Amino acid sequence: MRNSLQLQSFELVARDIAEADIASLHALSLGVGWPHRPKDWEQLLQTGPGIVAVDGIGRVFGSAMWFPHGDDFATIGMVITTPRAQAQGNGRWLMDQVLGRCKGRYLSLNATHAAHALYLSLDFRDEAVVYQCQGEAALTLPPLPPLDGELAPISAGMLGDIADLDARAFGVDRGDLLDIITRKADIVVLKRDGKLAGYSCCRDFGRGKVIGPIVASSDRDAVHLAAIHLQKLKGEFVRVDTREKDGLFADFLAQCRLGVYGTVTTMSKGRPFLNRKPAEPWIYGLAAHGWG
Ligand SMILES: CC(C)(COP(=O)(O)OP(=O)(O)OC[C@H]1O[C@@H](n2cnc3c(N)ncnc32)[C@H](O)[C@@H]1OP(=O)(O)O)[C@@H](O)C(=O)NCCC(=O)NCCS
Repeated sequence: MRNSLQLQSFELVARDIAEADIASLHALSLGVGWPHRPKDWEQLLQTGPGIVAVDGIGRVFGSAMWFPHGDDFATIGMVITTPRAQAQGNGRWLMDQVLGRCKGRYLSLNATHAAHALYLSLDFRDEAVVYQCQGEAALTLPPLPPLDGELAPISAGMLGDIADLDARAFGVDRGDLLDIITRKADIVVLKRDGKLAGYSCCRDFGRGKVIGPIVASSDRDAVHLAAIHLQKLKGEFVRVDTREKDGLFADFLAQCRLGVYGTVTTMSKGRPFLNRKPAEPWIYGLAAHGWG
């Protein structure tokens, strides 16, 4: 693996992303049209390591991060090459650097159309489409199906139960990540027969709010876990990333005026990542593209 990359007349080297200033990272994501605010970058940097490609005078040309969970899995995200330096090998070089640092882990990521061919060439395989649903939330929500159980705000000491339920849905324990996400989120839990049956988080992100993760065992539960937040967000900009193409939950998002703005492709390398089981908890709303 090459430790530096010659790009036009610049030699780029990989530096720890923690050393980069947030303004440069923010400029990078703005440059490719992504909605992250400086605060969103700050939170990302708390959740995983990464690298930036910098030239001899410290200018940032690209970034890539990975988010390890347990000993043998990680998700990859925030892979960006600044537009003026694209199509010259920087993206591939950044990914080579990341793959070198993630040796021994199986991997997943959500690929944009721009990056899909690159990841295919690196032996990532397609698993599912993610629909980025967003818009100004409807002022009146559609009628909801009957609620089976009770919705309540998270109570003290429940984070462990949430992490256990989430691990059944996500396939891997990501308690450390949830610990960070949930610090600045409204969290609602669904209890049934005295047990945790689902949860959802709503937090500030980009232009408005993101509802995610949403973890539930049925479309009906997922609708309620989204609706409880949407009721408070009427007219506000809201985003939900979901792998549900159709069905009650997908229809509900559309009726709430969260239209499909774009898609990315969940890909994995090493072994398949997604493993949906009937009646088991499932990730109805992603935490974020980069976090899987
Ligand atoms: C995706 C992205 C990181 C690629 O970065 P890059 O520096 O342009 O990538 P590279 O120059 O290393 O090209 C990698 C591969 O992408 C493809 N590619 C890159 N630019 C291309 C172009 N303009 N047209 C067609 N294919 C292109 C090629 O298949 C190339 O493969 P090759 O090495 O066999 O030629 C960059 O386009 C980007 O930042 N896009 C916006 C943000 C984004 O979508 N990030 C991905 C998140 S999953």
